[in-house]
Amino acid sequence: MAPRARRCYDDANVNILEVLEVEHGVLLRTLTLMDQFAATRPAANALQEMAGMVTRLLLAHATMEDEILMAGLEAKATGDMRDVMTRHHASHVDIERLFREAVEEGPGAVPATLSATAFTRAHICQEERELFPLARQALGEAELVRLGARAEAYLALIRT
Ligand SMILES: [Fe+2]
Ligand SMILES: [Fe+2]
Repeated sequence: MAPRARRCYDDANVNILEVLEVEHGVLLRTLTLMDQFAATRPAANALQEMAGMVTRLLLAHATMEDEILMAGLEAKATGDMRDVMTRHHASHVDIERLFREAVEEGPGAVPATLSATAFTRAHICQEERELFPLARQALGEAELVRLGARAEAYLALIRT
């Protein structure tokens, strides 16, 4: 299947999948920076501080997916779709746990950090391959734009 062309970002009329895809780009770059930082064998407290910051970014992103996208999908979800949604939500719980473990690890935090970033990277790719096409098909553009406005309002709220 040919890749879908991305539109220019227009936050007055953006659909929630575009909001999430833009965030995915930022998160993937942040995870790469974190891997590179971990490879320099930084002081444990510096790595823990970065893991804490990345955890907050990831939790805000997962909240948008769970409480806006998945909540919007809930009414339209078929059995197969519900399985996918349950799996993606479970991954959010695992990501939070892996980063918390990395933060708590202390001097041995490098392997835990690399596990957390690798798991999160795979989750993001799977979401774009599996969950987003289902959401696009089930919800349609008008509903995705309505959820996009809610996502933008949530982002505006957490930035204040
Ligand atoms: Fe996610
Ligand atoms: Fe995501």
